[in-house]
Amino acid sequence: MSGRFVVIEGIDGAGTTTQTARLVAELMMRGHDAHGTREPSTGPAGQLLRKILGGAHAPVDGTTMALLFAADRADHLAREIVPALQRGAVVVSDRYYHSSLAYQATETDGQFVERINERARAADLAILLRVPAETAALRRARAGRAIERYDDLPVQRRVAEHYERVFVRLGEEGERVALVDGSQEPDAVLRELLALVEAIL
Ligand code: TMP
Repeated sequence: MSGRFVVIEGIDGAGTTTQTARLVAELMMRGHDAHGTREPSTGPAGQLLRKILGGAHAPVDGTTMALLFAADRADHLAREIVPALQRGAVVVSDRYYHSSLAYQATETDGQFVERINERARAADLAILLRVPAETAALRRARAGRAIERYDDLPVQRRVAEHYERVFVRLGEEGERVALVDGSQEPDAVLRELLALVEAIL
């Protein structure tokens, strides 16, 4: 038996982490075997990435970042995602290759980013939480979040544009994708996410 792999995406402050946790909790309440996870993962490459994102080891160039995210993804899949899917779970990941296609394309060649992510299993459903870059920046400031590598407003605006293009293209290529207005009340966002996920279970 194999499960379902759901990915939640968006710029920093779009609510991917909050909504992933709430979605997993609600799916479990409804009796599903649900497993929440995130990238960067808890594995060795993921731990290194968290340090770099926080400003350690600077400067690290964009190509190195793309390779590290792809390495973390391979490790995350082998160690956590695939085993959970094999036991039949609904795996919900806060970020996946869509993040690399949107973020690393701002700092290195987009086709290279695609190539090094070719082996990553496709998501069964990828959902983009759309929030204006200014709104997301305000949310991050209000939450007192530490400034990280990609937090500049012009970068976030470019990431948001990339997400729009990536989701259109992946949808055309046959990946199941959905766009959700992430600036709604959190409960309204969750309701939409639940409806989208239940439709593929
Ligand atoms: P988080 O703050 O949502 O935990 O994500 C960490 C940061 O890493 C966020 O700014 C997005 C970025 N990121 C990439 O640039 N590429 C990737 O492939 C992933 C998974 C995250």
